[in-house]
Amino acid sequence: MSFSIVHVSDPHFGDVADLHKIAAVENLVPDLEPDVTVITGDLTLRARHGEFQAARLFVRELERTAPVFAIPGNHDVQWWWRPFIPFASQAKYAKYRRHFGPKLTPTIDLTEAFIAAAQTAHGVAWGSLTPRLRDLAVKGHLPKKEARRVKALFAQARPEQTRVLVLHHNVLRGQLSERMGLAHWKRAQRRIVDTGAEVVLCGHDHQEDTDVFDGVVVSCAGTISRMSRGGRPSAFHRICLEDESIQVETYVWQPQQRLFKRSDVAGFARRRTVNEPEVAAGAV
Ligand SMILES: [Fe+2]
Repeated sequence: MSFSIVHVSDPHFGDVADLHKIAAVENLVPDLEPDVTVITGDLTLRARHGEFQAARLFVRELERTAPVFAIPGNHDVQWWWRPFIPFASQAKYAKYRRHFGPKLTPTIDLTEAFIAAAQTAHGVAWGSLTPRLRDLAVKGHLPKKEARRVKALFAQARPEQTRVLVLHHNVLRGQLSERMGLAHWKRAQRRIVDTGAEVVLCGHDHQEDTDVFDGVVVSCAGTISRMSRGGRPSAFHRICLEDESIQVETYVWQPQQRLFKRSDVAGFARRRTVNEPEVAAGAV
């Protein structure tokens, strides 16, 4: 088995977009030969039509190589439209849908992987509220109903498929920000494990990170905009699903050469090899 995912995040088309990095990603992706490219939200800065249109062109370019799986982030949600009226919440997503289609939480069924999105960018919502005012509409949350919906989808996947969950907010604490992207993060992590996901792709923190919790491999891609955290270089990831391991390669921005170059590779043993049935370890 050999299956790869290019994972980029937070391009933030608008004032802070970096057109050199956008061009570098567009030039490199065909050489990386991914089976799918995932963009974990924050396509825009202020959810403006022109920003969505630029993001759409980026997606169209990447689609020349492989299908693109994109989801909205908190910046793509017009939370200021009827923020406290729960039953009018669909207005928040109208602009995203106009440019990216009706599905906020797409799925894609590929030979080696079943990829499903969970919606965590709800704007101003009770589940995301924290005592910090600056968290307003920034924090995400993973409602129980949403996690159950994803679990039911993953239950339909074939046994040999890797279950990949895609969401916007970082599920691990950012190293520089020291912040979790999701409110009630312990509960959210438990819900993620319960979905049956083996890999989680997320963004939002603007600093790349790769780690594992409770057997779930996490790829948090950095931003490819100019808003990288702590002045660090931008980065994106390539995830390779092998029979016995999951590799996450980091591609780091080289400002002098104006290209992304592969740097670190993190490897994680799989819970079990793809082609071998699970054997009880009681007799060992
Ligand atoms: Fe962002």
